[in-house]
Amino acid sequence: MSRPRKQVHLAAHFPGVNNTTVWSDPSSGSQIDFASFVHLAQTAERAKFDFLFLAEGLRLREQNGEIYDLDVVGRPDTFAVLAALAGVTEHLGLAGTISSTFNEPVEVARQFATLDHLSEGRAAWNVVTSWDAFTGENFRRGGFLDEGDRYERARAFLETATELFDSWRGDEIVADKEAGRFLDGPAAGAFAHHDRHFDIEGRFSVPRSPQGRPVIFQAGDSELGREFAASSADAIFSRHATRDAGQSFYSDVKGRLAAHGRSRDDLLILPAATFVLGDTPGEAEERAREVRYQQVSGATALRLMEQVWNRDLSAYDPDGPLPDVDPLLGEHTVAKGRASVRMHRDPLATAQEWRERAAADGLSIRDLMVEVGNRQSFVGTPQQVADTIDSLVQEDAADGFILVPHLVPGGLDEFADRVVPLLQERGSFRTEYAGSTLRDHLGLPPLGRGRTAEAAS
Ligand SMILES: Cc1cc2nc3c(=O)[nH]c(=O)nc-3n(C[C@H](O)[C@H](O)[C@H](O)COP(=O)(O)O)c2cc1C
Repeated sequence: MSRPRKQVHLAAHFPGVNNTTVWSDPSSGSQIDFASFVHLAQTAERAKFDFLFLAEGLRLREQNGEIYDLDVVGRPDTFAVLAALAGVTEHLGLAGTISSTFNEPVEVARQFATLDHLSEGRAAWNVVTSWDAFTGENFRRGGFLDEGDRYERARAFLETATELFDSWRGDEIVADKEAGRFLDGPAAGAFAHHDRHFDIEGRFSVPRSPQGRPVIFQAGDSELGREFAASSADAIFSRHATRDAGQSFYSDVKGRLAAHGRSRDDLLILPAATFVLGDTPGEAEERAREVRYQQVSGATALRLMEQVWNRDLSAYDPDGPLPDVDPLLGEHTVAKGRASVRMHRDPLATAQEWRERAAADGLSIRDLMVEVGNRQSFVGTPQQVADTIDSLVQEDAADGFILVPHLVPGGLDEFADRVVPLLQERGSFRTEYAGSTLRDHLGLPPLGRGRTAEAAS
């Protein structure tokens, strides 16, 4: 018997700060005005997307001691943006990335429980561990934690936050005006958590929220990150979006769930992907090439290459050949705050491979960075893009995609108008929201109603 058609999940990433953003395009607007957030969120909602996603950067990135140009305006505070968006959307999930390294559970739980109330059950928390000590320097405790300890704290953090969310059962508020009794008893919000990371007790100040707790996302990619996700997350934001890499990541992570007493449907895999559309395949390819060259200016090409070479390459011509010097090994000193630095674990081998490729294809520094920096991108006619997305989902390379448009605020418009209807026509994507919470949109099972309900069930 063939299995039922999988439903595609779609989300919109607000592309505030990353190297897909083309801020120099004539149609590009503000990265920080509320109107930009509203436009993208309302377009995503019009297209019946599951959620809007905000990444987090807690310090402006630097390169060669200067602000990295692609950090267009930094990142405004996640909770303020999402809370404001809750007021101008009705169904769309609101997902915020919040580090477990530089925050405290009681604050984060309070903010997410509040967001879940304000949005009537649409909040999600992407728990990240913020890998770099450079980011940590702008907090009171500096770099703060080693790599191994960051996931240990993340686990303890999520466990503690969950205890806080569960400290209210959900039916304590009786608000009996005649009897003058607001709560049904003395237990509401009581918590006590004592471990190596968090030694806290008291009463949690926000009553149980519509979803019980926010939907939990995870975005780390290491062995520790994957295990953390398999044990505790509802969805993973991954960078593995091509067919082969996606299928291998998908089967690896889904295969880990049984050991944690979970089923394959308990965790969704949602990679990031960009897209460029055209009326014909040729036009789409041509537009995609233009976008790539907008994204990777000559200056950006040098900066991206410096992240592997770990030395100042500003004297090189981006339209000329690759540097004749080798990458500097050892501690990374040039680029600060960029995750992609960590992807090049063997810089000499990468340099060798890139030199061979550039020589074989006659590529300049900029041409090469355009080629190698290309992330998963859906390029084609709306029909081709709908086919590709649907087949990747049906063939278990993903459960859906978090789309990263390259333009703010209008970068999702064409996708909403031209691709979504095709996915709907083939029965792979909703035409109306069926439920009211983000858990409903994601097809995740409902949670128990707090500790008492779970213990009783
Ligand atoms: C797709 C993806 C997106 C991420 N987004 C963020 C982010 O917005 N903010 C952040 O501080 N860390 C982000 N991270 C970093 C992770 O939370 C984590 O700290 C890092 O990947 C190191 O963990 P790992 O070795 O398990 O990958 C992201 C990681 C991935 C893979």
